[in-house]
Amino acid sequence: MKPAGSGAKGPTSASTGGPFLLAAYLDEARNQVETALDRALSTTLPLLPQALREPVEAAVTSGGKRLRPILCMAAYEACQGPRGPDVADLAVSLEFIHAYSLMHDDLPCMDDAPLRRGRPTPHITYGERSATLGGAALIPVAHVLAWRSARGMGHSPEEARGMVACIARAAGGAGMVGGQGLDLLGEDRVLDQSDLDQLHGLKTGALLTASLELGALAARAPLARREALVTFGQAIGLAFQIADDVLDATADQDRLGKAPSDQDLSKSTYVSLLGVDASRARARSLVDQGIEELARTGVDTPPLVELARYVVDRDR
Ligand code: IPE
Ligand code: IPE
Ligand code: MG
Ligand code: MG
Ligand code: MG
Repeated sequence: MKPAGSGAKGPTSASTGGPFLLAAYLDEARNQVETALDRALSTTLPLLPQALREPVEAAVTSGGKRLRPILCMAAYEACQGPRGPDVADLAVSLEFIHAYSLMHDDLPCMDDAPLRRGRPTPHITYGERSATLGGAALIPVAHVLAWRSARGMGHSPEEARGMVACIARAAGGAGMVGGQGLDLLGEDRVLDQSDLDQLHGLKTGALLTASLELGALAARAPLARREALVTFGQAIGLAFQIADDVLDATADQDRLGKAPSDQDLSKSTYVSLLGVDASRARARSLVDQGIEELARTGVDTPPLVELARYVVDRDR
């Protein structure tokens, strides 16, 4: 199938043929994600002890950009065409991992953050024990959810295992958790650019990359396209964390809804190494490289291209 935007002059919408509008795409995709999250929570929460239900529900439903599932759905569309709710059911397994990662990131033993998305963090509201265990409970749930959704979409056990493994690799010690370890070790130290690339690539890039790969796997994309989406994911994943560092240093705290700042925590960031302007320039150039990679294999659809630009142009 010819991807929606390949070869088009300006970005056009696959569904309407009119100009592609990212804001409308994000609204529609976010609605689909929120509905899928509600479905997933309705089967998950009853299995948890009462004390963990509220912290888990609050962490998953407290907003956020929902970028990981949206990237997964956009990658699926780029390779396979229109998506149904079953793709969203698969994609929200990534958001469960993300929600857990934030619960733990904010803990007193990590970034000791009282505020996220403009609200008190789970350990402030529910206590450290509930935030730690609630976060941990989301990890296996995400994998079970991915397995069930993949099987529900008609994937074979082998295909479904590959999809679950894709998430597990990105979430684990060789991915997000490993990057979080490097992040903590980097406090009060001056890391060079290659150390920071590795740290950011793991703590943030791995799950964003897995989001794109999962979409490609769900679509049974040919290897060349899957590899292009992975390379694109690595580029925009790194760009995403550079943009996070830049926003941390420059954005209005009310708009950002997060505290404390990287500077308060003596974190090693792109901004502390290169300054704001050079960091922004590096993030933009990574996004351009990522888009070129998509174009090489004809999956440079308007949603993926515009989502990549959003990664660095966002204001929170
Ligand atoms: C924040 O991620 C944590 C990082 C990996 C930088 P997001 O910026 O995607 O957070 P939400 O989900 O939109 O709040
Ligand atoms: C966290 O990075 C990345 C995760 C794996 C959660 P940050 O510590 O910079 O994320 P924020 O700024 O608190 O959202
Ligand atoms: Mg952190
Ligand atoms: Mg943090
Ligand atoms: Mg940050």
